[in-house]
Amino acid sequence: MKESLLAQLKPFGQEHLLAFWDRLDKAGRTELARQIEALDMPLVQRLYERRNNRSDFRALADRASPPPAIRRNGANNPFTPEQARAQGAAALAAGQIGTILVAGGQGTRLGFPHPKGMYPIGPVSKRTLFEILVGKIGAAARRYGVRIPLYLMTSPATDAETRAFFREQRRFGLPEEDLFVFCQGTMPALDEATGKILLETPGRLALSPDGHGGMLAALARSGALDDLESRGIRHLFYFQVDNPLVEVCGPEFLGYHLLAGSEFTPQVIAKQDPLARLGVVVQVDGRLQVIEYSDLHEDAARRRNADGTLTHWAGSPAIHAISAVLLRRLAGSAEGLPFHYARKKVPYVDAAGRQITPGEPNALKFERFIFDLLPAARNALVVEIDPAEGFAPLKNAPGAVEDTEEMVQKMMIAQHRRWLERAGADVAEGAAVEISPLYALDAEGLKRKIAAGLRITEPTYLRE
Ligand code: UD1
Repeated sequence: MKESLLAQLKPFGQEHLLAFWDRLDKAGRTELARQIEALDMPLVQRLYERRNNRSDFRALADRASPPPAIRRNGANNPFTPEQARAQGAAALAAGQIGTILVAGGQGTRLGFPHPKGMYPIGPVSKRTLFEILVGKIGAAARRYGVRIPLYLMTSPATDAETRAFFREQRRFGLPEEDLFVFCQGTMPALDEATGKILLETPGRLALSPDGHGGMLAALARSGALDDLESRGIRHLFYFQVDNPLVEVCGPEFLGYHLLAGSEFTPQVIAKQDPLARLGVVVQVDGRLQVIEYSDLHEDAARRRNADGTLTHWAGSPAIHAISAVLLRRLAGSAEGLPFHYARKKVPYVDAAGRQITPGEPNALKFERFIFDLLPAARNALVVEIDPAEGFAPLKNAPGAVEDTEEMVQKMMIAQHRRWLERAGADVAEGAAVEISPLYALDAEGLKRKIAAGLRITEPTYLRE
């Protein structure tokens, strides 16, 4: 086995991966061989060779203009909210909408030792992100009297634990046929100076998930794309695991996507802080694209129009409507989505077998982003949402300045308080309230549920 692996590695100068082969036991060798065989060596080599001629995001941001948008102030919108809601509701009722939840990230910044979806975020209930998000899918399915399948993407870092959790929790009520779990691929980290693949341990490569853009290949490979097509799903509502405020399958949002004949429609929020850690949706040469916050240079981020508003205003909460036709078309294209490069500190084992923890970035990592489908999409546009009604991401551990548990819970409570007050309830100052999505999916649903004059004075969780 060693000889055939060596023959595979040598042409690419990666034979150091077998330096500790003789020390490994049988299981260790099998596992290392499996990892090496799964590598796309020519791709790895190509990525390293091209490390210095990557996209010039500075020039791109300078040429970019704002994207066509459905704005919240409505002034120049081609469609009314009523038209959009009707169109979205019709597609939902016809069973044409499915959901994709990406949950393959390692959640490094949060410092939670499990898949992020298992985080108990409910401010009163302590329900997990998964339970809240899946509850929203179930509630939407019930409202429209249809099946809404969930295509759940994991990565090798989160797969086993996520599957076990869904099994234990009986899929949070989702019928078995409506849950399709599929696992994304990985990419190796390379030593930046030499291009050599790093070993995390003597018997294991330093691999990490290939970015949520790995979804495209993984959808095709796993059979999920065939599955959704055979069910008659035409559009996917795409969302991330870290945002419990997301309005899953909101009919108005889906309606704009459908009325415009768009193949990829990102939700956006009007950025307040120019340096917010949000990708921005822009238009370049008539095509939409996202410039990630880490690629947006500060002058461009701070640029303002004559009226004082930010030029690159359209921050991405990473919630999209994506047509199945686009996914199929791009899944079949030779190059697939481009790779983004990141310089990172990656611990590794050196040639002498010592474990090294670098103090400075030492490695290149490669990720694909799903929003790179956008330039290939026909009739793409963005839809502005109110962040208070749709975006509160959990990214950081307690004590950070933004996107912490405390801030997310505050926004959840504020939203549910607004809904309750709109429905005629009186919520005492400081009383924490939380509403299960299966109890009420929105303010209208809540009106039908609660008695007029309801008064809430202590922490309350309204549940089915
Ligand atoms: C992301 C977006 C950013 C957006 C912000 C909004 C990217 C590259 N950037 O930033 O434009 O404004 O969210 O909150 O997406 N994931 C996988 N597999 C992976 C990597 C990530 O499934 O290989 C999933 C994670 O589980 C998570 C989501 O993708 O659900 C976002 O990943 P994260 O690394 O948190 O992205 P951000 O840097 O916060």
